[in-house]
Amino acid sequence: MAALGITMALLVWMAVLLLVSIWKQVYSSWNLPPGPFPLPFFGNLFQLEFKNIPKSLDKLAERFGPVFTLYLGPRRTVVLHGYKAVKEALLDHKNELSGRGDIPAFREYRDKGIIFNNGPTWKDVRRFSLTTLRDYGMGKKANEERIQKEMHFLLAELRKTQGQPFDPTFLIGCAPFNVIADILFHKHFDYNDKICQRLMHLFNENFYLLSTTWLEFYNNFSSYLHYLPGNHRKVIKNVSEIKEYVTVKVKEHQQSLDPNCPRDFTDCLLVEMEKEKHSVEPLYTLDNIAVTVADILFAGTETTSTTLRYGLLILMKYPEIEDKIHEEIDRVIGPRRTPATKDRLEMPYTDAVVHEIQRFINLVPNNLPHEATRDTTFRGYVIPKGTIIIPTLSPILYDSQEFPDPEKFKPEHFLDEQGRFKYSDYFKPFSTGKRVCVGEGLARMELFLLLTAILQNFNLRPLVDPKDIDLSPKTIGFGRIPPHYKLCVIPRA
Ligand code: HEM
Repeated sequence: MAALGITMALLVWMAVLLLVSIWKQVYSSWNLPPGPFPLPFFGNLFQLEFKNIPKSLDKLAERFGPVFTLYLGPRRTVVLHGYKAVKEALLDHKNELSGRGDIPAFREYRDKGIIFNNGPTWKDVRRFSLTTLRDYGMGKKANEERIQKEMHFLLAELRKTQGQPFDPTFLIGCAPFNVIADILFHKHFDYNDKICQRLMHLFNENFYLLSTTWLEFYNNFSSYLHYLPGNHRKVIKNVSEIKEYVTVKVKEHQQSLDPNCPRDFTDCLLVEMEKEKHSVEPLYTLDNIAVTVADILFAGTETTSTTLRYGLLILMKYPEIEDKIHEEIDRVIGPRRTPATKDRLEMPYTDAVVHEIQRFINLVPNNLPHEATRDTTFRGYVIPKGTIIIPTLSPILYDSQEFPDPEKFKPEHFLDEQGRFKYSDYFKPFSTGKRVCVGEGLARMELFLLLTAILQNFNLRPLVDPKDIDLSPKTIGFGRIPPHYKLCVIPRA
């Protein structure tokens, strides 16, 4: 009798809990954008194809419109789909919707540095970094010279391959790595340097693992999955190792610092730390500096390097496009002069190809998650503070009105009838608004100059028939990761 009573009481208790949780969900979503009905705990996970989330979001947008609510497990999320919704949210509501959504795999960096900072220090660190980077590296002229210097090292390494097959991942990646290392540490790494290779391996492995289904799950159910074995542990370990390396570099800089003569970006941050020495709540601590530097090191290396690698594969699939670039380079630059940014104005075809590579590969399809920093009224809905915002980039880059046949690689997407470069405001691989990529200018300059230099000096040779080259990404998640491949580069006469 007593056992029956206890069972009944438990059942009633569970029913009450379930009702309260459903009521809470309904109440808090009263004025939210529409969306599929969420299950308790799992949310809308079963409505998503985890191997291709952008595709699932396209399908949901067809049903619910360009602004919809989705529960990723327990996380309430509002998805912005398409040019108008993303621009309106990130530009007209830039203060409210520019927080950073939590990415549990990077919790060690949370609320420090720039990328993963959702705290009060983000604005100041970002602003100071942008101005300093302009002075110590991101000023247009200084950057151009830095990239041109690196170009020669890259070309020398490519020559060493002597027309034999090689994996471009780390060889090509060394160039963007060194450009950033020069800005941050005033240091150039040899292409075989063990530390440089190790760091690039960590960036590369993390970008890949973050784009796998397990990590997508982990980032939404981290409290349940954290202690289980799995690749999230590897990502978290790699993130720590990167920070450890950067911390050592920052401390080395601190020991040899001359506040009157900062050598690089790291020195500039340390000078600020010195100035704040007596402050009760200093903005720049060693930890915050290390995360800021680590942010720029990996964001600035892996993205540009993956874009170059994907770009070369695309050009091998379309040798007629490669030929047209060779022709334009020969006409505008010739065989010997070092490519310069001013050449871009006279090279609309190459410029269009570089844009099309970025559009087509759609490197960060779902953007990085944002967060509502306060209750926000958007298109008549109320998005509560703390809601994750996904301002997707994929539907903008693949908009079929702006880019007819978006699934096809067509440099003509960025060319007018007369073959002149055609600007598109839908070109948003770097996002937009207050969180827009800090390295956009640098990345675009690197992509144009490095690709031009490679093609000025070499013909690309695939190891298979171009028709058999499959451009589909190896995995789609946080990033769209290119398939692994090898190629040969043959010096041009
Ligand atoms: C092809 C190259 C690149 C692509 C496609 C790219 C793309 C992006 C995207 C989509 C974001 C998120 C924007 C948002 O949250 O709305 C971002 C943020 C960021 N990127 Fe890049 N990026 C590239 C290169 C670089 C480079 C070279 C650097 C460094 C010099 C860099 C540093 C950053 C930083 C620090 C942020 C965080 C901004 C913030 O949270 O305030 N990126 N990038």
